[in-house]
Amino acid sequence: MSKKEKLLVTSALPYTNGPVHIGHVAGAYLPADIFVRYHRLKGSDIVYMCGSDEHGVAITIRAEREGVSPRDIIDRYHPQIKNSFERLGVSFDNYSRTSLPIHHETGQEFFSDLYSKGILKKKQEKQFYDEKAKMFLPDRYVEGTCPVCAFEEARGDQCELCGSDLNQTDLKNPVSKLSGETPVLRDTFHWYFPLGDFQERLRAFFDARPNWKENVRNYCYGWIKQGLQDRAITRDLTWGIKVPLEDAGDKVMYVWFEAVLGYISSTKEWAQKRGEPERWKDYWQDENCKLVHFVGKDNIVFHAVMFPSFLMARGGYVLPHDVPANEFLNLEGAKFSTSRDHAVWVDDYLERFQPDPLRYCLAAIAPETKDSDFSWKDFQTRNNSELVGILGNFVNRSLTFIQKHFDGKVPAAQPPDELDQWMLKCMAEAPGAIGDSLEKYEVRRALKALMDVARNANKYFNDKEPWRRVHDDRDVCATTLNICAQVSRALAVLMAPFLPFSAVKLWKLLNLPGNVHEQNWGQSGEAALAAGHVLNPPEVLFSKIENDVISEETNRLKSKAKPGSNKTAEKEERTLISFDQFKDVDLRIAKVLTAEKVEKTDKLLRLEVELGTEQRQIIAGMAEFLAPEDLVGKKVVVVANLQPAKIRGLESQGMLLAAESESGEFSLLTVEKDISSGTKIR
Ligand code: 2FM
Ligand code: ZN
Repeated sequence: MSKKEKLLVTSALPYTNGPVHIGHVAGAYLPADIFVRYHRLKGSDIVYMCGSDEHGVAITIRAEREGVSPRDIIDRYHPQIKNSFERLGVSFDNYSRTSLPIHHETGQEFFSDLYSKGILKKKQEKQFYDEKAKMFLPDRYVEGTCPVCAFEEARGDQCELCGSDLNQTDLKNPVSKLSGETPVLRDTFHWYFPLGDFQERLRAFFDARPNWKENVRNYCYGWIKQGLQDRAITRDLTWGIKVPLEDAGDKVMYVWFEAVLGYISSTKEWAQKRGEPERWKDYWQDENCKLVHFVGKDNIVFHAVMFPSFLMARGGYVLPHDVPANEFLNLEGAKFSTSRDHAVWVDDYLERFQPDPLRYCLAAIAPETKDSDFSWKDFQTRNNSELVGILGNFVNRSLTFIQKHFDGKVPAAQPPDELDQWMLKCMAEAPGAIGDSLEKYEVRRALKALMDVARNANKYFNDKEPWRRVHDDRDVCATTLNICAQVSRALAVLMAPFLPFSAVKLWKLLNLPGNVHEQNWGQSGEAALAAGHVLNPPEVLFSKIENDVISEETNRLKSKAKPGSNKTAEKEERTLISFDQFKDVDLRIAKVLTAEKVEKTDKLLRLEVELGTEQRQIIAGMAEFLAPEDLVGKKVVVVANLQPAKIRGLESQGMLLAAESESGEFSLLTVEKDISSGTKIR
């Protein structure tokens, strides 16, 4: 017998600075849970680890805002988050906390090991200090203007808008989050991890993982291309894991250095709870174990670049096998916003709805390759048309029919005809089709394959017309319903990763022994129900959601919305594009060679511009504002990769950028210095 596949799966440790919303769930938790549940059914040796990320500035800022201690904050949100996940059916094998002694010990042991190997470097440096609050200001304690995209509220560690990873001192106009004052630079020192030394090892590590998702690979190679810099892994803060060195004073470890180690300490805690304290090593220290990190796209660098290098430095630990990062989920066309309460909180959702319809909807729209959008209307449609209308309908009509016409017992089947064989084949092939997609982390496609079985089964039921045959050919009818019962059983197992609660319910309706979550995936497509097996009285699996219920939800969101209440809100109101989308726009400097009015028009100018070695014709609607001679010789900004368009019969091969205010002021975008035409603008 072949050896069981061994996997260690993690979902990003959520910060305990607030409850979890469905955007979090869609990125790092639900896809992981589906993957893990599938592997358990498949018989893999798998453990699934997570926990609360309870250190760092995300927690202390929240505590300061509320005037309470960081401990108060984490003790409030840790149980709440843990409970939300449980009720949603996210089936961690362990959900730990980074405030536990076991994690502090793990962090300190890692740090000490790297220190004793001479890997960490101590560096003097200047850091922002708030003279009013009398403290250093790590990471998000400072905000300012992003040097890359000019977003005015970039955080000291990262720009949320363009995703750039920043050093505080890169920010323009830095401001302390604590006092609102401009911070001063003061001497301090920190221990650095020499990420640059791992550049080539990381490259080899990525090269050896060609199947990683495109977005993750691009990101990783992008990092390497930029050249990796040493990273400070300590901070001047009192909340966190103390640095275990004599000369460390009050310093604690950088939250991103220790949070990723939380996966290890969670596994240690799991092993201890089982009474097998060494068992964590079976996963972390076995090179055959596949370590898979499910994260949102904002966490890629920490899991695909930083953590692997920490593990390489430590040695003896397995390196990530995959980092299937997801993009973001939006809500009703806008970004989730905690500050504006533009969110669907998991707790709140579960007050009014069942978990499975949400799991279904989020799996169907999983932001796998690009950002996706959750809307209540879509949620309703998916529930009513797909869960109720397709899956629930098939099971219900089959079980009700058996109850009514076969006394609730699975009827005996005759040798199958062609249509029966087709249905049996669909059922037999489903575990492979769904499994293949899940192995590639393609949850959407896997869910579609599951629903295709139910779709086909409805078609089969319709084509077989058992409501007629029961009167004129009872044997054929019996065969049909036998097969429908077999398919219902198969569906119970196949839906279990996606719809764990409904799978249990269906298993009960089918009156089957054992636990649906402990069945054999590989055999789930077989016709395993014996003729004569007695079913339980049918009940509906899913219920319709009415319009007024959905209106309540959309109204709730609207009434909470406080548009434009602050700058952050304004930023979130806009439709945001990713930095990659921005990069797709090819902006270049061009020199205007000639300009003339287009005949018989008031507004159009025909320009010949020089774009490096190329010459192009551009038709611009600027004649009302500029005379042709105002343009000739100017260096302007053009969109160079716009699809050519015909304007008044003339081909325009690009677009000039200009600003026009509502009151009609007009300004052409030109450049300050005489820079060569063709130069790319970034
Ligand atoms: O982005 C976040 O919410 C972080 N708390 C994720 C940490 S993942 C890992 F490091 F534990
Ligand atoms: Zn930016």
